[in-house]
This record gives sequence, structure tokens and C-alpha cells, in this order.
Amino acid sequence: MEKKKVVIIGGGNIAETVHVPYYQTAKEFEVVAIVGRNAARAQAFAEKHAIPRFYTDADKMYAAEKPDIVSVCTPNSFHYASVMKALENGCHVLCEKPPAISSAEAWDMHQAAKKYNKVLAYNFHNRFAEDVKIIREKAASGMLGDIYVTKVQALRRNGIPGWGYFTNKELQGGGPLIDIGVHMLDAAMYVLGFPAVKKVTAKQFQKIGTKKTSGSFGEWDPEKYEVEDSLFGFIELEGGHLLQIETSFALNIKEDSIMNAEFMGDQAGATLFPAHIYTDEGGELVTLYQKTKADQNCQLKSMAAFVDNCLGKEAMIADGEQGYIIQRIVEALYESAEKGESVSL
Ligand SMILES: NC(=O)c1ccc[n+]([C@@H]2O[C@H](COP(=O)([O-])OP(=O)(O)OC[C@H]3O[C@@H](n4cnc5c(N)ncnc54)[C@H](O)[C@@H]3O)[C@@H](O)[C@H]2O)c1
Repeated sequence: MEKKKVVIIGGGNIAETVHVPYYQTAKEFEVVAIVGRNAARAQAFAEKHAIPRFYTDADKMYAAEKPDIVSVCTPNSFHYASVMKALENGCHVLCEKPPAISSAEAWDMHQAAKKYNKVLAYNFHNRFAEDVKIIREKAASGMLGDIYVTKVQALRRNGIPGWGYFTNKELQGGGPLIDIGVHMLDAAMYVLGFPAVKKVTAKQFQKIGTKKTSGSFGEWDPEKYEVEDSLFGFIELEGGHLLQIETSFALNIKEDSIMNAEFMGDQAGATLFPAHIYTDEGGELVTLYQKTKADQNCQLKSMAAFVDNCLGKEAMIADGEQGYIIQRIVEALYESAEKGESVSL
């Protein structure tokens, strides 16, 4: 079988650690080129990873390479243009999270994938963890009863990223909510089966990033720190259910990092990482299910599900429609925090 031609757009951290290594070990694929903004960096990336060609102009790349598959690994604000161009050029697309900067962009991307009949997947890799699969299945079987409260936490105590564009509001679209909160929000919504969202209310803070210069994730310029350093939101779901989100790059909490979701049902409760289900029996906390270690292979599983779809097999992906829904919630949380009032969807 002829190998599928893969092109990577944006040769940075995630391309190097996840996308390129995956394609290079899968026998059906060949990474033929990389597109970067800076020629010297794109060339260095190509040489380091034995990728035959590099480009700085995407149009020239499409004309010369005619790829089957494109991985979009640029900063957030460039996802939209890169995804739309890849779909227009007849490629299946795996786009890094978050889908885009706005829900209007995410909606267009979803519509374009349908129009061109191509696979569009977002790398919300946490939902591919075995832990998430188990809790989703147990919740669907009724073990938790009616899940009326869900709590999502994506918290770092001292983890403002000191590289890339993570503190630049225009290029990233925001801070911890759009960068890490979005991961746990997607995992929780996936477990819940993507219930309709009625109303969101949020409050955000910028108390630390503009004052400090360094933390455990490197150094930054406090004068150019433009994003929130924490955000707290209430998301009212259909059926009167509540999803609460807490997310931070920097916050004076006890732990260095918390990335988890907790589901509170009227029969039992569950946490995702590692999967754990518990209930109260006569006043005693009883474990109904427990996994001792969280699944660490979810990036590989996310990549594998995408390529399976490209090869015509069916596998669950975070698709264009779900990407749009997550983007719409993120946008509404920011809108609510900025306006100081609730936003109805
Ligand atoms: N799934 C995950 O767990 C995960 C982890 C890290 C990053 N990400 C996402 O991946 C994306 C990239 O993050 P990163 O950490 O790799 O950033 P990075 O800064 O390390 O890499 C981005 C690369 O894109 C290049 N670039 C910038 N604009 C471009 C353009 N218009 N065309 C082509 N290349 C361009 C930059 O020169 C850089 O090499 C972000 O959207 C981020 O949210 C996802």
C-alpha cells in the first residue's frame, strides 16, 4: 500500500513530542514536509527529525506535496487558517487544542470538514485515557445515578509557561482556561455525553502573572502578561445540572498541579485520574471501583483514533462539532468574566 503523505504545520514542542514520533512509527504514514514561519527553524526541525522538505509558504507546500493528512501544531490563533486551508486542499486534519480562538471559527471549521467530507479531529487527548472510558461506561450504566454536579479542575500553583505565546492574549485567546482548562472540560463533557449548556457565569483574576517574573515553568515578562492567571466558572447544564470549573496557571494552592474531574451522582461519586468510584453505605465511604494508576498513553490513543478514521475505520475522535461546543463554552466563560454577568447559550 502506498504510504499516506503527512505534513506538519508548526514545528514546536507538541509536533516534536507527539505528532512526528507517532507518524514516524506508523508504517502507513510518511512525514514528507514541515511548514514553519521561520525558515531556519523549520529547516532545523526537518533535519533533526529526518523530514525530507521544509516550507515557509503553505500554498507552495500544497502545490508540491499534495499531502493526504495535515497536523496543525501552531499557536492557537493560527489554527483556523491552517485547518481551513488543509481541508480546502482535500486533507484530513488533526488540529491541536483548543480548536480555535472563537466559536465562529470553530463552527466554520466544522462546516468545512463536512463540506469537503474530510476527517477533522482535535487533540483533546485526555478523553482517550482508559480511566475516562471506564467512568463514562459506568456512568452510562447508571452506577452513579443522576450526576447533578461535576467539578473540573485544571490548576497549577506556579506554572505560567515561560515559552511560546502562552501569555499573549491575541495569539492564544486567553490563559489557563483556553490552554489547560479546556482539556478537563472536554474530558468531563465527554463523560457526561455532551449535555446542552444553558447558562455560564465566570470570574477571572490576574493577580500573579503581572507581578512575578518566573515560576516552575520558566520566565516571562510581567509587563507582557496579558491573560488571566485563574478563572472560576459555573456552567448550568440541561436538567438543572451543574458543571463547575476551576483553572489556573498560578494560584496559591497547596498542590503543584491538579488535573481532574469529579462527578457527583445521587447513587455514587467518581474521579477521573485515576478512575475511582465511591459511595456512602450506612455512613461509610465504600469503593465500588478503583484503578491504581491513571493511563499515561492517551496521546498515542488520540493519534491512533485519528489515523484510523483517515484509513476509513471507525474510532471515537473529538470531532468538529464537539470542538465547536467546547470552544463556545470557553468563549462564553470569558465573555461572562469580562462583562461581570451570566451568559445564556
Ligand atoms: N495536546 C496537548 O497536550 C498539547 C500540549 C502542548 C501544546 N498543545 C497545543 O499545540 C499548539 C502548539 O503548542 P506548542 O507548545 O507546540 O508551541 P510552540 O511554540 O513550541 O510551537 C509552535 C510552532 O509553530 C510555529 N508557528 C507559529 N506560527 C506559525 C504559522 N503561522 N505557520 C506555521 N508555523 C507557525 C512556531 O514557529 C513554533 O515552531 C498550541 O495550540 C497548544 O495549545 C497541545
